Amino acid sequence: MPFGDDVLSGLSARPKTLPAKYFYDELGSLLFEAISALPEYYLTRAEAEIFATHADEIVERAGLERLVELGGGSATKTRYLIEAALRKRAALSYSSIDISEAALEASSRALRSEYPTLNVRGYRGEYFEGLRRMAAQEGEVGGRTLVLFLGSNIGNFDPPEARRFLKAIRDVLRPGDALLLGTDLKKDRKDLEAAYDDELGVTAAFNANILGRINRELGGHFAVRRFKHRAFYNEPDGRVEMHLESLVDQTIGVDALSAHFSFKAGETIHTESSYKFSIEEVEQLARFAGFELETSWFDAQRRFACNLLRAS
Ligand code: AVI
Repeated sequence: MPFGDDVLSGLSARPKTLPAKYFYDELGSLLFEAISALPEYYLTRAEAEIFATHADEIVERAGLERLVELGGGSATKTRYLIEAALRKRAALSYSSIDISEAALEASSRALRSEYPTLNVRGYRGEYFEGLRRMAAQEGEVGGRTLVLFLGSNIGNFDPPEARRFLKAIRDVLRPGDALLLGTDLKKDRKDLEAAYDDELGVTAAFNANILGRINRELGGHFAVRRFKHRAFYNEPDGRVEMHLESLVDQTIGVDALSAHFSFKAGETIHTESSYKFSIEEVEQLARFAGFELETSWFDAQRRFACNLLRAS
C-alpha cells in the first residue's frame, strides 16, 4: 500500500510532509486542468505559446523520428510538435508514459483517429518504471528520439531527484537523441505567488484534495476546512512551496493505518515544491546528466523556457 506507507511516514515526520504525486487522483487531475486555465497560472499558456510559435524549428533542430512523452496527459501541446513532424515526414512513432490509465487511453484513442500515420504506444506507470518498460519493449528502435518532459514537471522533483531522473532518461537514449525539457523561470515573487494562490481558490482546493484523498482511500477523518492553503516563494531555495496549515490544535485518525496524527495550530504539512530555474541552472543540470543544452526557446514575456538537451 504505497499511498498508506507514504502518508504514515510523511505525517510522522517533523516537519510533516506529503508527496505531491498524490495530488493526481481523478478529482485532482481535473483540478489541475482547471488550474491550467486560471488567469494567474501562466505556465501552461506560456509553454503552449512557445510550441505554437516554434514547433517547426523545434522539430527541425531535434531531427526526430520518434517522440516519447513523459506524463503527456491530454497531449494538447504535443499536437503542435506532432503536426510539425508530420509536415516533414510521412510517419512518426509516439510513445507516452503516464501514471493514469484513463488519460493514456483517451489520448491514445484521440491521437490515433486524428493522425492515421502516427504509430501510438502507451505505457502506464510512474516515470522511472515506465521508461524502463518502454526501453525493454521497444529496445533499440531505429531513428532519432526526442523525449518530451514538459510543463515544468521537473520542478516538482528535489534537485537530487531531478538529477537522477534526467540520468535515467539519458540511460535509455543514444548519443544524438534529445530531451525537450520545459522549465518555469525565476521571476518576481508577486507573479509566482499569484500563480500558486489564485483568487478563485482552485489551487487551494487542489492542495486540500490530498487530505480528501486520505479520507476517501484510507478512512481518514480530516475536516478539510480546518486546514488552510499556504503558498509562498522560498527565494533562497528557488522554489514555490505549498503547505496545508492546521487552523487549530487537532488530532486526526486514519483508520487504514491504525494511526493518529496530532497537529498544533499553525503547524503545516509541506505538500509540494515547485522549483524555478535560471538558464544556467538548466545548463548545469543537463551537463550533470550527460546532456548538452543546445538551445532554449522562450515565450514573449520570457516567463518559461523549452530547452533542447542533446545526449552527448
Ligand atoms: C504539475 N506541476 C508542474 C505544477 C507546478 O506548477 O508545480 C503543479 C501545481 N501545483 C500548484 N499548481 C500547479
